[in-house]
Amino acid sequence: MTGKRVLLIIGGGIAAYKSLELVRELTKRGHAVRCVMTKAAQEFVTPLSFASLSGEKVHTELFAMTDEVEMGHIELSRSADLVVVAPATADLMAKMAQGLCNDLASTLLLATDKPVMIAPAMNVRMWEHPATQRNLITLRHDGVSVIGPDEGSMACGEFGPGRMAEPVAIADAIEAHFAQRSGPLAGKRVLVTSGPTHEPIDPVRYIANRSSGKQGSAIAQALARAGADVQFVTGPAEAPKPEGCAIIPVETAAQMHAAALAALPCDIAIFAAAVADWRVQNAAPGKVKKDGSGKPPSLKLTENPDILREISQLKPGKRPALVIGFAAETDEVLANATAKRMRKGCDWLVANDVSPATGIMGGDQNEVHLLGAGDPEHWPRASKAQIAERLVARIIDWAKSSNEKAVC
Ligand code: CTP
Repeated sequence: MTGKRVLLIIGGGIAAYKSLELVRELTKRGHAVRCVMTKAAQEFVTPLSFASLSGEKVHTELFAMTDEVEMGHIELSRSADLVVVAPATADLMAKMAQGLCNDLASTLLLATDKPVMIAPAMNVRMWEHPATQRNLITLRHDGVSVIGPDEGSMACGEFGPGRMAEPVAIADAIEAHFAQRSGPLAGKRVLVTSGPTHEPIDPVRYIANRSSGKQGSAIAQALARAGADVQFVTGPAEAPKPEGCAIIPVETAAQMHAAALAALPCDIAIFAAAVADWRVQNAAPGKVKKDGSGKPPSLKLTENPDILREISQLKPGKRPALVIGFAAETDEVLANATAKRMRKGCDWLVANDVSPATGIMGGDQNEVHLLGAGDPEHWPRASKAQIAERLVARIIDWAKSSNEKAVC
C-alpha cells in the first residue's frame, strides 16, 4: 500500500500512551502521521513524544497565530486521507455526536470532510452509560467507523469493555479502510439487512426466528472488503458484526423498516434479514401474568411492513439500481422463490432450503439458487463466507457492466 496521510487526534486518557505505539506502527508501514492533542491528552503524554515519533509538529491550540499562518485549522482537518481519534474519550465522543467545537480537536472533527475512525477508551461504566451508547449510535449513523473497545482489566481497576484496541489492530483497521477505498466496489453505497427481528409480546417476551445473521454478516464483510460503503442494518443476531461497515442495530421489523429507509439512497440493497412477518398488535406494557383460568392469553397479530417489496417498488431514481432478496423455503424451493421474486419486484433472489435436515438455518454452510432474469443457477454447498464471496463477485460483474453502459 502506498503511504497515506493520517491525522491522529489524541484524547485525554491513560490510553494516550498506546497512541505513541500507533504512531510508530503507522510510520513503520509508510504512512505520514500528523498529531493533534487535546489539553487533557497533554496531562498523560507530552507533545514532544508525539513530535519525535511522527517527525511532525504537534498541534494543540485552536487560536495559535503561527499555526494559522502556516496551515489554518480547516486545512489541517482536510489535508489528511483519514482522521483517527485514539483514544476517543467519552467527552470527545459526546462532542462529536453533538457537533460541539470548543477546542482544536473538536473543531477539526466538525470541519473535516474526510472519513473519521474512532478507537474509544474509557472506564467500563462510562462506556456502558446510556449517554455514551446513544452517542455511539449517532456517530455510527454519521458514518464514523469504530474500532474496539476491547474487554479486559483497566487502569482504573475495573474489568469489562473500555480498553482501547491494541495499536496493531488500529493500524490494521486503518489499512483495511484505505484498501476499501480502492476496491472494485469503491464509491458504491450498499444497504444490507441481516439477522432476525424480535417482536415484543410484553417487556420480557418476544416472537423471533432461528436466523443467526451469519449469511448477512458474511455478505456485508465481503462487500466492505470489495470497497463498498456498507450500511449494515441488523436485528439481534449472534453472528460477529462485519468490520468496516456502518452498523445500525435494530430489534423489531418496524425499526428495521425505518432504518432501511433512512439508509437510502443507495446503489445496491440486499435483504438477507429474516424479518418476522407479524408483530403483536396488543403487546402488553407490563409482564403478562397467568390469570388462574388456565386459558392462555390471546395475541392479536398484525402484518409487518414488507421492506424488500417496498424498496423494490420505489420509483426509478429512488430505487437502488440492484435489489437482491432472499427466500428461505422448506418446500418447492424453486417454484416458491420464482413466485416470490415476481411478487416482491427484486432483481435477484437468493433462495435456499432451510428444512431442519439441511442444517442451514443457524449453520456455517449454505446451498443456494440464484434467480435473476435468466435461468436459475445452483450454487452447491459451501461455507456462508464462500457463498458471500461468490455473490459479491457477481455484484462486481454487475457493477462493471452497469458502469460500461453508463459510459456508452
Ligand atoms: N422481507 C422484508 N420484509 C418483510 C418480510 C420479508 O424485507 N416484512 C424480505 C426478506 O429479508 C427476504 C425476502 O423478503 O429478502 C423474503 O422473505 P421471506 O420471509 O422468505 O418472504 P415473505 O414475504 O415473508 O414470504 P413467506 O413468509 O410467505 O414465504
